[in-house]
Amino acid sequence: MSQVKFSAFADLHHFPGVFYSRAEERLDFIRKRAEKEQVDFVISLGDFCHDIYKSAHVLQQYRDFPMPTYHVFGNHDADETTYEEVLQAYGLEKDFYSFDLKGFRFVILNSSYMYKDGEYFNYSKGNYFPHQDKREYFSQEELDWMQKTLFESPYPCILFSHASLEREFDGGDGAVHNKEQVMPIIREANRRCPGKVRMAINGHMHRNGMSIQENVVYLDLNSSTYDWLPKKHQFFPEEITKEYNLADHTVIVNDPVHAVIRLDTDGTIRIDGMKSDYFMGITREMTDNVRYDQAGRPASAEVLSVHFKMFYDQQ
Ligand SMILES: [Fe+2]
Repeated sequence: MSQVKFSAFADLHHFPGVFYSRAEERLDFIRKRAEKEQVDFVISLGDFCHDIYKSAHVLQQYRDFPMPTYHVFGNHDADETTYEEVLQAYGLEKDFYSFDLKGFRFVILNSSYMYKDGEYFNYSKGNYFPHQDKREYFSQEELDWMQKTLFESPYPCILFSHASLEREFDGGDGAVHNKEQVMPIIREANRRCPGKVRMAINGHMHRNGMSIQENVVYLDLNSSTYDWLPKKHQFFPEEITKEYNLADHTVIVNDPVHAVIRLDTDGTIRIDGMKSDYFMGITREMTDNVRYDQAGRPASAEVLSVHFKMFYDQQ
């Protein structure tokens, strides 16, 4: 039996002048916990920042962690710059990739493709903004690679993507648009070898939730920074809303809620989340916004904790 432990956080959203993210403090918190827990690696589930040049120091801070750090590509990472510049800044050769560690294969997917006129395009300089009905796809090349990577893996696999594989596509942007092409791959991998795909973790929705479907654990990882509000509020003082021009569209968690996850090859899964509270005590419920998202999940200042064992019967 072998065991791996990693730290996962999502949606840091560093964007000076726009969001009151305090990303430096948050990363410092995540690093200290990762060191204390002696994790094997740390992974960002996407939307780390909106502008790699304005975020160079936090990218460096993340690179300087004493353990390996990884990036998942999120829809906002290339809002202000090109896709190629982001890949380079994140130290990635490709936007989807995998690595093997301690008896597991970690498969990093990019759910941020636009599908237009029969072609897939990477998000680059916010090119997807005018095409809201064509976003959150996996590319065909990526799906082919994913199938090969899962089927040929000698190890159980953990999937990471910014958008959710668990949520049903409902015309919104939370779920992967071509989910019906993804699920048969996962299903077939698990039919051939039960327990091949054990877990899929996503960010993007800024919600805290978990479900188990067809013996795969899906973790909806909360944002380590804020919850987005379509309708703004007026609770924050002017010195904040003046300096951060979209702060009034957010409620902000005081601490970077995230998870330390321990997996054993015997099927044991331990997620140690954390609880925080909201900056200035301002919650979504106090604002003029609906409480629940499309999946019925409320905003919360926490990431769940749970410890259980899955059994993967040989067929
Ligand atoms: Fe996102």
